[in-house]
Amino acid sequence: MEYRGYDSVGIATINNGKIILKKGVGRVADVTKTLDLASMAGDTGVGHTRWATHGNVTNNNAHPHYGCTDRIAIVHNGIIENHKELKEELIGIGHIFKSDTDSEVIAHLLEKYYVDQKDIKKAVIDTCKRLEGAYAFVAVFENGTICGSRYNEPLIIGSVDTGHFISSDILGFLEYTNKAIYLDNRDTVILDSKNLQIFDMNGDPVNRAITQVAWELASIDKGKYAHHTLKEIHEQPVIVEKTGTQNLDRIDEFCNILKNSRTVILTGSGTSYHCALIAKHLLSNFAKIHAETIVSSEFQYTLDGIDSSSVLLAISQSGETADVLQAVKAAKHMGARLLSIVNIPTSSLARISDRFLPVECGPEVGVAATKSFTAQLSLIYTVVDRLCKGCLGFEDYKVFLGGALRKILDTEVEIHRIAERLRDATDIYIIGRSIHYPIALEGALKLKELAYIHAEGMTAGELKHGPLALIESNSYVIIINPNDTTFNDNIATAHEIKARGATIIGISDRPNDVYDIFIKIPSAKSIIYPIIEVLPFQILAYYLALAKNADPDYPRNLAKSVTVK
Ligand code: F6R
Repeated sequence: MEYRGYDSVGIATINNGKIILKKGVGRVADVTKTLDLASMAGDTGVGHTRWATHGNVTNNNAHPHYGCTDRIAIVHNGIIENHKELKEELIGIGHIFKSDTDSEVIAHLLEKYYVDQKDIKKAVIDTCKRLEGAYAFVAVFENGTICGSRYNEPLIIGSVDTGHFISSDILGFLEYTNKAIYLDNRDTVILDSKNLQIFDMNGDPVNRAITQVAWELASIDKGKYAHHTLKEIHEQPVIVEKTGTQNLDRIDEFCNILKNSRTVILTGSGTSYHCALIAKHLLSNFAKIHAETIVSSEFQYTLDGIDSSSVLLAISQSGETADVLQAVKAAKHMGARLLSIVNIPTSSLARISDRFLPVECGPEVGVAATKSFTAQLSLIYTVVDRLCKGCLGFEDYKVFLGGALRKILDTEVEIHRIAERLRDATDIYIIGRSIHYPIALEGALKLKELAYIHAEGMTAGELKHGPLALIESNSYVIIINPNDTTFNDNIATAHEIKARGATIIGISDRPNDVYDIFIKIPSAKSIIYPIIEVLPFQILAYYLALAKNADPDYPRNLAKSVTVK
């Protein structure tokens, strides 16, 4: 589970009726060295990587958590919203808490109900009935039983002939089995060495289908690259070339729903939201479909006008982002139809959608989205192209595009040199107009998360309405300036900036004297540029991270799938 991004790690195994629990702060590889795992025998166990929400990054706050005794240990993803009330109640009856986490209440509740009733199933169900918020938790009991339950957080079982896995992501066990059972909300599972039983909240047994998961595990390897992020950046030409080839019928069904909607509302978070901004531009201007964007975390405050004639199109790499899932559920509640574009076809988002399109770029391990963005964009271009009967000419353009991305990758050494030059930059402004504005936002996001540099993306025209006051001789401004209708206005803006002493970096296919630093991109059809011009930012951010001794695969404080609100 390491790929998701985390700050601490823990593991508990059961050996001869006793739980052995060890944990520490840091990465799996580093913490493992300190834990003497060889002493942790047993054929039942649970592990967790934590991304702090409640309580600092400390040993005590790392999972697994015991209750008062060492007879039950739990791990939890999600947020227990009523943890304060539960904690007070439990302290009132004598429970002693050792961490500042919301999760620890689960261990104490389970312990309380188990001591009272001596029945694991009842104890788990009674515990779940008390929890408000989102959870996927797994508990190990000293007798070797494992149980788990979920509500609005994923929990998946993997089955092999000799036993079972239980994980928040299929990648946790895909190495061993591709047979997965997806638990429904409020399901409880109980496993021991022989049996697997799933119950609903009434304690009645339920059957959940086994899904055969298809996934290219090989691509989780870093191959010849130093980091997953670099490998994923390099995969983009091939991903673009093969977009949409296997799913034309699905794409057409998707298009039909879009065509018949009154309004399409696009939503997503972070990088996926930047894709939504470009999708809005393409849908409105080329497919002539009325489209709006709402960033997922704001969705719940903007529900007016969403009804059964609306279509919500959610874009997400993971399909597990809590903000996105919350937006989707709110739209469903208002009667909207749900479409999604998602990389993980077995994710919660794909499963809740009326129709979804898989972006098929393979697992993205680097915490920063790179290839998934390009793949999402290519898929959007394909969809819009079909909607406007080939007006973008995207189908014929994919091979050219793959070649254009390869040409930029060939200039990696030069971009690396530019990164060395920018390593001490404290503020970088990125400007672009029209369909290039979302790329300015995306470029800024890459620089922030990978290189920890304050970076701001904005429309070039807005600069003079305020931000120009920030420009001084130590500022850097990157101008996304392809040779299209935005070119001349951008050059005018560049002169205004230069007059204030800033260093200007031009990303363009057309050189100009105003640039102090020039990153050349290949010329392309104007509407296609966004897919090309994002690549220099990804490479720049990657090498800036290295120049600043940051790990590009695991930026500090960030998780790959943000499954909490
Ligand atoms: C940025 C990044 C995040 C994600 C965001 C949404 O590089 O990775 O901003 O784009 O957390 O994630 P998904 O697409 O999985 O919903």
